[in-house]
Parts: sequence; structure tokens; C-alpha cells
Amino acid sequence: MRNLLTLADLKSAEIDRVFAITEDLKTKYSRGLREALLPGRVMALLFEKPSLRTRVSFEAGMINLGGSSLFLGDEVGFGARESVADFGRVLCQYVDVVVVRAFHHQTAVELARYCTCAVINGLTDYAHPCQALADLYTLKELVGRLKGHTLAYVGDGNNVARSLAEGCGKMGMKFVMATPKAYQFDDAFLAHLKTETPELDIKITTDPAAAVREATAIYTDVWTSMGQESESEQRRRDFDGYQINGKLMSKAPSGAFFMHCLPAHRGEEVTDEVIDGQQSIVMQQAANRLHVQKGILAWILGAQR
Ligand code: CP
Ligand code: NVA
Repeated sequence: MRNLLTLADLKSAEIDRVFAITEDLKTKYSRGLREALLPGRVMALLFEKPSLRTRVSFEAGMINLGGSSLFLGDEVGFGARESVADFGRVLCQYVDVVVVRAFHHQTAVELARYCTCAVINGLTDYAHPCQALADLYTLKELVGRLKGHTLAYVGDGNNVARSLAEGCGKMGMKFVMATPKAYQFDDAFLAHLKTETPELDIKITTDPAAAVREATAIYTDVWTSMGQESESEQRRRDFDGYQINGKLMSKAPSGAFFMHCLPAHRGEEVTDEVIDGQQSIVMQQAANRLHVQKGILAWILGAQR
């Protein structure tokens, strides 16, 4: 049984396979067809943090595929009534796949260690692999082949940034990152990238204008992630100058796309003018969460033809 905890769990060819299944299912969906590839299969969602996109796209996606979804509330007592090990050993007797959103990545890793069913990371403090897959799929729809394109990430070196860097490496894209020194990837993650995706062309700078110069797409995420709310004032100060606004967009190639995983803190990391502007593809990214979750579920549960 395969897990998806970070994009290190997928080989490049497997990402291509997930994208091929996604494309097939998305085409059918646009014609009104909901192909029941996973009848009788059950997915459990275990979420320690709020979610709109990840929760609803997984739930709707599983239902489209003919399976069922169980959103587990507080009363299951995850992390409170029994050990994560016992919880995992029991839960996987009832369901085929668990999607977990946890504060600490280690919680998802531990759950996966004890579950004999598939475990998918629906966001941790360390990684957001399903988001990065939907983002790369969205770009692929727009540019065709991803290889050789540049993703410029401006902002916090967080969960989303880590997954995008891994994904760019796997798909032959260049990853340029503009981040204040204190928020850049740590040495352990850079070493991991080197081992996992030795082919990744990565450039890290503190200069947003330099980062976007050759970008196919410019990506940002919130400066204060879920769980970091007490740091928000400090972060607003530290990220001063890293906002994606019309001036920064004018330094990028004229056809560059603007991307954001959402939810956005409008007026902080991005202005209304940019996120609602012509170059923004944020709604395509959000829409593709549904289709890519279906590709992931069909692939991980082995239902792909
Ligand atoms: N982008 C994303 O994961 O959104 P949610 O937090 O709403 O799931
Ligand atoms: N970095 C953000 C992503 C939300 C989808 C967070 O972790 O809150």
C-alpha cells in the first residue's frame, strides 16, 4: 500500500500517471460523466485544522468516484483518547484511505506507520503535496510540457513552498525563491532536496524582483500559516517588500501567471489588483484540486486502468 506524505513518495513517472488519470476524469466530468472507479471504497478525513478546498475536493471527488467519505469530528478523539498507533491500527480496519491534516508532520508520519491502508497528507506544517500536484497540473494545462519552465516563489519558505520545490524537481522545472533569510529552507531540507531531486535547479535569493525576472508563474502563499497566528505582526514586518503587487508583476515576463494556493490574506502577500487580475489563475488552481484529488485517489487505490 502506498502513502502520499510528501512528493518524495512519488516518482516523476508516477506524477505523470496521476496527471493522466486526472485528465481523463476531468474530460469525462466536463461531459457530465462521473466514472465510478471506486465503488464501495471508503475514505476517512482526519483534520486538526480548518479547510475548505482540501476537505471538500476530497469528499466530492470520492463521491464522484462512487465511493464514500467520512469526515471524522472531534469525538473520535484523535490524539486524545488513545495513542496514534492504536488509533491508526483500528481506523484502517474500517476504511481504504485516510486523508490527514495535522499541525505536526510527525503525526501524519506516525499515523501512516500504523495504518495498513493508504494515508494521504492533506497539509502539515512541513508539506502540502496534494496542493503542489494540483498547481503543477494547472500549469501543465496552460503551458503543455512543464520541463524547462520556471516557477518563482515569493514569500515564506513553508509547507507549500517545500512541496512546490520537490514537485518542480520531479517535473524538470526551475524553482526560484525570494524569501527573507530567516524564512528560507533549512539545511536539512536543502540536503533532502539534493538527495531526492538531484536534478532540481533551485535558486534562493532575498530579492523578489530578481526572482520573477524569468518566471513562467509567480507563486505566493500567506506569510502567517495556520498555527502561527501569534507571530503575525512580526511576520508582517519581516515580509515587508515581498508583496506581489502590480509593480512586482511588471518586472516579470508579460505573460507570467500569478498563483496562490488560497486562502489569501489580501493586502498582505498579494494585492486585489493582482489576485483578481488577468494574469491570475488562482481559481483554476482551486478548481483543479477536485480533479487532481480524484487522480490521486484512483492511483493510490489502484483503480486506474
Ligand atoms: N489550499 C488549501 O489547502 O485550502 P484549504 O486550507 O481550504 O484546504
Ligand atoms: N501555508 C498555509 C497553506 C494553507 C493552504 C498554511 O499552512 O496555513
